[in-house]
Amino acid sequence: MIVLGIETSCDETAAAVVRDDRTILAERLLSQLAEHRSYGGIVPEIAARAHLEHLDRLIAETMAAAGLSFAELDGIAATGGPGLIGGVIVGVTTAKAIAAVAGKPFLAINHLEGHALSARLTAELPFPYLLLLVSGGHCQLLAVEGVGRYKRLGTTLDDAVGEAFDKCAKLLGLGYPGGPAIERRAREGNARKYRLPRPLIGRPGCDFSFSGLKTAVRQAIEGLGVDGLTPAAVADLAASFQAAVADVLADRTRHALAAFRARYPRGRTLVAAGGVAANETLRKRLEATAGAAGFAFFAPPQKLCTDNGAMIAWAGIERLRLGLTDALDFAPRPRWPLDPNAPKAIGAGVKA
Ligand code: KG4
Ligand code: ZN
Repeated sequence: MIVLGIETSCDETAAAVVRDDRTILAERLLSQLAEHRSYGGIVPEIAARAHLEHLDRLIAETMAAAGLSFAELDGIAATGGPGLIGGVIVGVTTAKAIAAVAGKPFLAINHLEGHALSARLTAELPFPYLLLLVSGGHCQLLAVEGVGRYKRLGTTLDDAVGEAFDKCAKLLGLGYPGGPAIERRAREGNARKYRLPRPLIGRPGCDFSFSGLKTAVRQAIEGLGVDGLTPAAVADLAASFQAAVADVLADRTRHALAAFRARYPRGRTLVAAGGVAANETLRKRLEATAGAAGFAFFAPPQKLCTDNGAMIAWAGIERLRLGLTDALDFAPRPRWPLDPNAPKAIGAGVKA
């Protein structure tokens, strides 16, 4: 079984061809960083136009690199949401067109399911597992029972963790995206230099909150004065911020591991996925957290943590195997929670 996956929900235009034996036959990814950099964040209209401009060529290059024609595919998968709707429409429309012309099944993939199943693209990982989904738009703990079957144990009440990295990086003058920049600077910094809050730590449950942490970073910067934000201070603040995030993620995950174990005695793996799971410090911390609870830890390789086409193709394969294809009148979904029964999150910046 071979599926083409298309990802256009944010600022990466990506395509990949994946086979059901977990081989990535070809992949292409175009980052729009240069287009958005001067705005300090992603501009949805610019993103949509860039997807439209580049996607056809990117797919052609991916198919050529795989040495395949559309007729040789078993399905065409595209991110159907959640995400920036202009970009999602570009990807979905393109996938439907290919599916219609080639007479192949179309699969609308929930971007979050792409992240959630990405671990199974690189490892033999049985259901159920506990998933910490940490990206630019999301911060959730979910029990993954199977394809399309998720139970949310916790979510953020305000900012997503990637968003917190990005906002903090902006305050520190490190540009966008903030996660990798903060991780780099933090290596030279002293994580104990600034005493930043650890929101919700010690409280019951598995929810997250990051807006207080971001405010504390802003106040620390203001306290330094105009000339105080030296490269050393930036490194110390980056390290202190990252340490606070690590403490929060570890504490909330610890609670979720206990809840998960009670409900799914067979499950023994903690998976981290999404862009923030690329962070080495956080991966190590989560591995230790899992180990202390008697769980194995798994996170996909870094390039499969951040947005990519292969995870969409893989989710397509998982759904195609079960016959879960979509009709060509599928409407792109700007919001699309993995667990439709979970109560709506109350905060801003939460996309599902
Ligand atoms: O999954 P992703 O590529 O896109 C979304 O679906 O949101 O995640 C992007 C987010 C950004 O907020 C980025 O700053 C963060 O992931 N990120 C990181 C790292 N690499 C990317 N955060 C912390 N450390 C990193 N190394
Ligand atoms: Zn993502």
